[in-house]
Amino acid sequence: MLTTKQLQEEILRLKRENDVCILAHAYQTHDIIEIADFVGDSFGLSQRAQSAPQQNILMCGVRFMAETAKILSPQKRVILSHPEATCPMAEQLELDELRALKAKYPDHAVVAYINTTSKLKALCDVCVTSASAYKIVKALPQKNIIFIPDCNLGGWIAERVPEKNFIFIDGGCPIHTRITERDVLHAREQHPEAMLLVHPECIADVTKHADFAGSTTAIMDFVSKSDKKEFIIGTDNSIVSHLQYEYPDKRFFELSKICVCHDMRLTTLVNVYNALTGEGGEEISLDSETYEGAKRSIDAMLSYGQ
Ligand code: 13P
Ligand code: SF4
Repeated sequence: MLTTKQLQEEILRLKRENDVCILAHAYQTHDIIEIADFVGDSFGLSQRAQSAPQQNILMCGVRFMAETAKILSPQKRVILSHPEATCPMAEQLELDELRALKAKYPDHAVVAYINTTSKLKALCDVCVTSASAYKIVKALPQKNIIFIPDCNLGGWIAERVPEKNFIFIDGGCPIHTRITERDVLHAREQHPEAMLLVHPECIADVTKHADFAGSTTAIMDFVSKSDKKEFIIGTDNSIVSHLQYEYPDKRFFELSKICVCHDMRLTTLVNVYNALTGEGGEEISLDSETYEGAKRSIDAMLSYGQ
């Protein structure tokens, strides 16, 4: 039987031999984080892979992230480590529903959170990440906006951009929306000295209590710059574990013990190994119409500066 360390060494050898760049979203488990070339948030990973020298990209994350990597690096081979790893929120809106919304509100800009399928992105005007959403929505020339699919992130932005009108769908992250205001009150009582850091995919009754709300990378950056010793983390609980490794002299607490993304947890080291030997994973390919349309939305996002 191989130990974790032996399997990691095999993966690193295969990665070098096969010219592969391994990307790990920050919600992956620590054994995968350790063998990755880059760790980061959903869009940051694709950007790092674009400038990496390797011709093959292995995404340890969910499908929309692998599709985004393919759109940014169309000449490279992009593999999703676990073919079943999807983001449920990315598929919450049917294409025909979006077409109907666009027909009903023709003067509205259609803004898609990056957590959407490429086919949905292809029907939108511009993509945003949780890190760039505020800046882009504020800068858009249109006053009226259809924001898909996350009504919690959208609501959080809308509060900060009161001069614009928003239409939301009933979408959101099924994992972050598990966190309740009661969890906040409980955690504050248990850890009165701790700062509360949350992802804006949480419901408004949670984000309103936060000392800081931001993307996974922004949460980790916040900790790196803070001289505080204790933090309550309101996002996937893998971040609690990574932060604890990185800052052993600080203390981190889960805001909710059930904030765990099952799709992110599907990928194991064995999946990574199998994808590298050609026994697993799925190569991402997009038809030209989807590729061109989604690229247009992503390019529009980049034109505002990431
Ligand atoms: P980030 O872009 O902040 O990494 O978020 C991705 C995600 O899926 C959060 O649930
Ligand atoms: Fe999707 Fe939520 Fe999982 Fe992020 S945590 S990948 S938004 S289901």
